[in-house]
Amino acid sequence: MLNKCRLNFLETSYKVNRKSIISFLKIFSPDLEKSIVVGDFILFCIMKTPLKFLFKFGIPKNISTKVFNLNFPSPVIAASFKDHTASLLFWQLIGTGAVTFKTLLNEPSKGNHRPRVTEVQIDGQKHLFNSLGLPNKGIKHFVQNNTLQKISFQERPIGISIGGNSDDEYLQNLKTIERFVQNSGSKNIFYEINVSCPNTLNGKTLNQDIERLINLLSSLKEITKSPIFVKIAPESTEDFLLKLGNYVNMQNKMGITLGNTKSLSKRDLNLSSKIFNNQSGGLSGPKLYDSTLNSVKFLSSRFNFPIIATGGASDYKSVRNLLQNGASLVGMAAQLVFNPFEIAKINRDLSNEV
Ligand SMILES: Cc1cc2nc3c(=O)[nH]c(=O)nc-3n(C[C@H](O)[C@H](O)[C@H](O)COP(=O)(O)O)c2cc1C
Repeated sequence: MLNKCRLNFLETSYKVNRKSIISFLKIFSPDLEKSIVVGDFILFCIMKTPLKFLFKFGIPKNISTKVFNLNFPSPVIAASFKDHTASLLFWQLIGTGAVTFKTLLNEPSKGNHRPRVTEVQIDGQKHLFNSLGLPNKGIKHFVQNNTLQKISFQERPIGISIGGNSDDEYLQNLKTIERFVQNSGSKNIFYEINVSCPNTLNGKTLNQDIERLINLLSSLKEITKSPIFVKIAPESTEDFLLKLGNYVNMQNKMGITLGNTKSLSKRDLNLSSKIFNNQSGGLSGPKLYDSTLNSVKFLSSRFNFPIIATGGASDYKSVRNLLQNGASLVGMAAQLVFNPFEIAKINRDLSNEV
């Protein structure tokens, strides 16, 4: 009862504060990223104080799941979209079974021109639309700042998303990170190979060339013994899914993450240049759910490897449905922005169902 009151209080406070910050900053600028920076700063300060324990919700023991050698206390995990360490800890306190660090590139990069992220309403539901273009502090920063240690929480698995502007860069990036992981003694790592970013020049080329992708995955596998998930686009064709599925099925410790944001042009969403600078971007949120579910069904009815279902999951019903249809884990991004406290409710409801 006490936990329920605390959850309701935190959920309401989060929504009210978020709305207030966005409405206030909108007076000065239409760029939503300013609110994100302010929100991140407030969270960073709170997480430095004992107040952070207010966010801590236990995960019921009966919903844990094992994927390869990794134990996830909850099957709901944070998808790769954030490199802000306080946020990654915050979500684990509330109850995600793991977090996935935002896609890393070798060199620091500022990403695309702002404004490049906005909220859109579709069918009465909130979504995110972004063309960040993988802004990044680079691998050196990740290693030198001991990021892994900063986001480790109760030995929960940590996903690290690897990107690259060329096949060679993917290989070099994984080599560098793997060396760091080995030296740090971290055992609960999985990698996600992002071949489906719609917002960089070459972000999706591997998702359109199955032979090149398979060659790359074969080389990446040689570098690490940790599990590798390939993160693909929601637009992937059945032919592509079949070919990739056939390959992944034959590998040890490999799976598929389905999927990234959905490519759309800003005209599809009637966005003005004032709130969104780039011509196209990637959609996140409930609208992706049907396509995620269909692809999960397609793959799980043919193959046995683990699937991380990412795209449109927002509540207990959507998570349960993805798990019942063959997903091993469910990744979330947009819902963690709109209401991260939903995670504690999903864990509770999953537990009651077992
Ligand atoms: C602002 C933002 C940034 C993102 N950055 C990344 C990224 O760096 N790497 C990646 O693989 N996916 C990235 N994504 C995609 C998410 O991980 C996820 O695949 C997508 O949002 C669909 O899930 P959702 O409907 O739960 O949001 C990003 C999404 C958003 C909204």
